[in-house]
Amino acid sequence: MIHNKLTKYADIKQFTNVLECGFVKSPPLELSGSWADIPFHGDAPLVLELGCGRGEYSIAMAERSAEKNFIGIDIKGARLWFGAKAALEEGLGNVFFVRMQIEHINALFPRASVDEIWIPFPDPHTNHPSRDTKRRLTSPVFLNRYREVLKAGGIVHLKTDHRVFYEYSLETITRGGGNIISHTDDLYNSERAGDTAGIKTAFEKRYTGRGIAIKYIEFSL
Ligand SMILES: C[S@@+](CC[C@H](N)C(=O)[O-])C[C@H]1O[C@@H](n2cnc3c(N)ncnc32)[C@H](O)[C@@H]1O
Repeated sequence: MIHNKLTKYADIKQFTNVLECGFVKSPPLELSGSWADIPFHGDAPLVLELGCGRGEYSIAMAERSAEKNFIGIDIKGARLWFGAKAALEEGLGNVFFVRMQIEHINALFPRASVDEIWIPFPDPHTNHPSRDTKRRLTSPVFLNRYREVLKAGGIVHLKTDHRVFYEYSLETITRGGGNIISHTDDLYNSERAGDTAGIKTAFEKRYTGRGIAIKYIEFSL
């Protein structure tokens, strides 16, 4: 069967491993109650992948770490479909997907409920810096959202191809009182090369294929 966008949207409504909130201005009230509908809101460490696209990190990490739970979040249902379908076909019970704006994560995740966050290749939003920096996933407002849901000592991993975004992120994390654990502007020529789970997302392969160095920041908030 050919899966175009519309059939993918229809599919994810039926998938048992997807919660759909869609694009809304303010977080829907019922979202806070949805936490209990996610099959694993128990004690196992919880890892989020923000802007998960096809969910490559969530799937690969869930395959490797059965003792942890993973939730991939993205607003684009047709991308998220790939991860959710792969998880269902593999019978992976420790990975789940949420179609929502990352802006609303505090409405879904209780305070201090998340152990780790991965942010692979977020949109750098550099076309109109004066207007768009607040949309960056490392802007102060987003960092505060993460701070609320992370447990004490929780870790955030950021990968990007984009130098301006990388430097902006180092600055906002530091200014916002975060702690940079390690960073490199050339991951695969650094001592951290083997430490980032060795997973390459669709976007990452595109950039490395063009010879662009991958930048990486590990931090806490
Ligand atoms: C450049 S793509 C990277 C996708 C994937 N992480 C990868 O590396 O292949 C950025 C993704 O973040 C998602 N995204 C960007 N801003 C978002 C937001 N505020 N809320 C939810 N998803 C967002 C987009 O829909 C897109 O899938």
